[in-house]
Amino acid sequence: MAGRLNVGHGQMGGPMSLKDRTFLRQVDVDYKEPTGDIWEIAKTCTTMFKWHHYFTAYDEKLAPYRDKPVKILEIGVHYGGSLKLWHEYFHKDSTIVGVDIEERCARYARDNIVIEIGDQSDEKFLKLSWTSMANLT
Ligand SMILES: C[S@@+](CC[C@H](N)C(=O)[O-])C[C@H]1O[C@@H](n2cnc3c(N)ncnc32)[C@H](O)[C@@H]1O
Repeated sequence: MAGRLNVGHGQMGGPMSLKDRTFLRQVDVDYKEPTGDIWEIAKTCTTMFKWHHYFTAYDEKLAPYRDKPVKILEIGVHYGGSLKLWHEYFHKDSTIVGVDIEERCARYARDNIVIEIGDQSDEKFLKLSWTSMANLT
């Protein structure tokens, strides 16, 4: 469907403050709403910040890994929305590691969600996060 789409912060339709709205702008796009399980889950992740077209690609690439536990490392936690997406999309025994430079993101740790605080440009930190993820059971 061709049309105009609001893009920017809050594009997942999550709660937006007036401040967030100032980031919104309209662009002309050939917009096709994603489909599939991942999109259904994504619509419930109201604090996630991702472009809609990611989900078609995610589903295509990640669907073959859904039946077995996986370990996934995501750089950039923000408000924890995408950790919820991975938690619900992948097998229940999967381990999700979220890396963020902001200390406040530590609050999103859960049973199978590990948060590592550090700078992704710090090679030593990133290697350590990767290794500790690999060693998690
Ligand atoms: C766009 S948000 C992540 C969105 C999240 N993945 C989601 O889908 O909801 C980007 C995040 O990257 C973090 N960040 C920025 N620079 C970083 C760095 N050098 N190392 C680690 N995290 C960083 C920010 O603190 C912010 O939380």
